[in-house]
This record gives sequence, C-alpha cells and structure tokens, in this order.
Amino acid sequence: MKPNWTPDSWRTRPIQQQPEYPDTTHLAQVEATLAGYPPLVFAGEARELRRLFAEVSQGRAFLLQGGDCAESFAEFSSSKIGDTVKVLLQMAVIMTFAAGCPVVKVGRMAGQFAKPRSAGSETVDGVTLPAYRGDIVNGIDFDEKSRTPDPQRLLRAYHQSTATLNLLRAFAQGGFADLHQLHQWNLDFISDETLSEKYSQLAGRIDESLAFIRACGLKSTPQLHKTSFFTAHEALLLNYEQALTRQDSLTGEWYDCSAHMLWIGDRTRQPDGAHVEFLRGVGNPIGVKVGPSMDPDELLRLIDSLNPDNDPGRLNLIARMGADRVEEHLPALIRAVRREGRQVLWSCDPMHGNTIKAGGYKTRAFESILHEVRQFFAVHRAEGSHAGGIHIEMTGQNVTECIGGSRAVTEERLSDRYHTHCDPRLNADQALELAFLIAESIKPEHSKAPRHSGTRSGHRYRLLEVR
Ligand code: TRP
Ligand code: MN
Repeated sequence: MKPNWTPDSWRTRPIQQQPEYPDTTHLAQVEATLAGYPPLVFAGEARELRRLFAEVSQGRAFLLQGGDCAESFAEFSSSKIGDTVKVLLQMAVIMTFAAGCPVVKVGRMAGQFAKPRSAGSETVDGVTLPAYRGDIVNGIDFDEKSRTPDPQRLLRAYHQSTATLNLLRAFAQGGFADLHQLHQWNLDFISDETLSEKYSQLAGRIDESLAFIRACGLKSTPQLHKTSFFTAHEALLLNYEQALTRQDSLTGEWYDCSAHMLWIGDRTRQPDGAHVEFLRGVGNPIGVKVGPSMDPDELLRLIDSLNPDNDPGRLNLIARMGADRVEEHLPALIRAVRREGRQVLWSCDPMHGNTIKAGGYKTRAFESILHEVRQFFAVHRAEGSHAGGIHIEMTGQNVTECIGGSRAVTEERLSDRYHTHCDPRLNADQALELAFLIAESIKPEHSKAPRHSGTRSGHRYRLLEVR
C-alpha cells in the first residue's frame, strides 16, 4: 500500500474543476449508496491491463484508445455502443494485420461522463449559470434546474456504465468480435470508396489466411473468436471514483473499480493536487495528459509520485500538444524520461491540442490531427523511443464534427450532423483513414522490434495466447 494514502486523502488537497453541490448531505448519501454497490471491474482485470501496457511500453504491442469525448444519458442505446465498437474493431484489425502488431483495445466508454471546463459559469443574455460539467454532474440545457449539480446523477451514470460495460463484454467475448465477422463491422455509411475498398481488400486477405490455417488442420482457437476490450475514463469527479474504490482481497491493494484504466486531465495534473493524490494510491494502470505547458522537471515529479516503482505497465503519458507544437515540446520531455530511466507508455492524443472555431462550431481539422500523429511518430523515431499508442475521440455515428478527411466535411457542412455533447469527434471514415496511416507508421518499427530469446514469433504470439 502507498504511504500516507487513503481513498479519501484527496479531500485534504487543493482541487480543481469541482462542481458546487447545493445539497452536500444528499451527495454524501449517494456516495454511501454507491460504495455499497458492486464494482464494475475486478482488480485482476486492471492488473491484466497493466501487463499489456508493459508489453506496449516495451515496443511489443500498440495501444488503441478511443470513444466519445463525453457519454450522455440521452444517447444511450445498443446501436450507438455497437457502432463505436465496430469502428474500434476495424481500426484494431487494420493495425494488427497491416502492421503485424498486437493491439490493446481500450474504450473511452462506460464512465466517461465528467468534463473539465475552461470557465466555471456561462452567461447568456445577461443570465449567469454554472457551466455544464457532463451528465454525471448537471444537464446541458441552459436553465437553472438543469445546470444545478444533482447528486442523483452519479447513480444514473453508474447504472448506465454497468449496462454499457455488460454489452462491451458481450461484444468482445460473445461472437461479435470474431475475426470471421469482420465484414459485418463495416458501417453502411462508410461512403468513401477507396477506403471501403481498402478495408474490403484487407478483410479478404484475412479471410484467406483463416481459410489457410483451417486447411492446414489447425484447430480453431478462442484467440480467433474473442478479443479483450478494456474501459477507461478521466478520473475527474473524485466523489464517484472514491465510492467505487475497493480493496482487493487477494493483494490488499486498492483499485478504482469504476474502470480498468483512469487518466488525469491536463487541467487537473497539479503535482500537489487532489487528482494526483487520489490516483497515486490505486493499483490501476493510469494515464496523464501531457500538454505544451508541461516542463520536464514537473513531468519527472509527477512520474515520481505516480509510478515510484518504475513499473513499465503503470503509467501512460498521453501527449496532446497541438500539431504545430509537437516538435517544440515533446523531444525535451522524452529525453528527460529516458535520461532518468523511467519506464512509461507514450501515446498521442491528436485531438485536444487541435480544437478551433469555424462557422460558429468548435471543430478540428482532420489534416491537423493526422499531422500531429505523424509528428509524434517522427519525434519518437528521432529520439529512439517507442511511440506506443493513440488516444482519440471518435464515434460510430455518421457525424460531421471534424473538418476534412477523404469525404471532405467542409466548414459549411458542419451543421448537418453536429451531435457531440462536448468536443468534435472523428467519424468512421476519418477513424479508418487514421488507422491505415498508423498501421503504415508502426510497421517498420514493429518489424525491427528487439527479438527476445527464442524464435522470431516468440514475442508476437505470447501476447495473443491469453485472449
Ligand atoms: N484475439 C486477437 C486480438 O484480440 C485477435 C482478434 C480477434 C482480433 N478478434 C479481433 C483483433 C478483433 C482485432 C479485432 O488481438
Ligand atoms: Mn474532449
């Protein structure tokens, strides 16, 4: 157990981005109720994800993390969840097959409800109300009732997360993610012909490979029929996170059982702040968003408190610099981490540093997103470090929220299907295009990854064995 840490020690630290609940007695009652409810995930699953993160940080796998900016109570249906999973599976299969690299799949799902805001309140026509902080806190409608933080929402978020996670587990294990189904993951509206052609071709080659394996008399194995799918969200509303934090009976360690992985946002990563304090004590794999204002010393301080044992599967640094600032800021951070011999998993969030305003909408240019990803890979290659993963905001819905892509969403078309509750997300076309780009980028690196004792295939198949 971590020294001087308890599940509520965060409450003594300065805290950012907190809602102001008018009824704190009600809040305390809800926290007590939640603390008595079953956990969403088990400690052993979080440990399994740490093992996989270690594979990634050592260059033997790639991390794919994606989902909504914010989940919402209104948009909650099996088709919505299923469509997002389809796109993630397609992306994963593209990377696994085209780059020959195992992919660790993590959804920003089943708990991604709380949002940090740049201002605590919002004024419209002379009326000032609390800012919308995500459905777990208050409602998006601009009226006093809806904007008042309501503790009951924590319970609703919990129940929606359990149902979502249940469906995700069924999708991963119950036949939907079977490699023989990969034609079914194609969404009807993928309209770009080159892209769907590229995907069909890849799917055809996989079909052939599967037929070949069968013809050789190799028995079918669960690895072909199932996959592992993990969940993650930003650990922002610590009242919710603490209520779902449990002591593992096997090891005595504490785990935040609201998700497999939790991350700290760029706005709440103060080394002495409440969010760092909370996450330092739980055994889950954790992430920290790393923006352009992070300096190398501060990063090392954060690593000291979040990963004092230097465990390669513990800490995911998620760089979110903005396309034009990667080259300026990332090399010094990578060097500091290497110089101090710190083991981390570096991934790239090409979304949050590239938000712009256009035609009255908050949007992102797909070209900037691709550019940030390319720069991320280039800097890692130059520094001799491993670019381990990608963290994106995307959806299986046919939305027009980011400008550009092979289907060329224009500024004028943004209003057609702009549905997000928060930040603009990639649609399926854009997500697939990105997956092909990444597959190209990780291929050369993966094929020269260090070969460990034993055969060439040794390290590749070891990971797949457990699925
Ligand atoms: N079990 C393997 C894996 O998860 C292969 C696999 C099965 C797979 N279904 C998949 C890979 C769907 C990607 C997408 O990697
Ligand atoms: Mn976002």
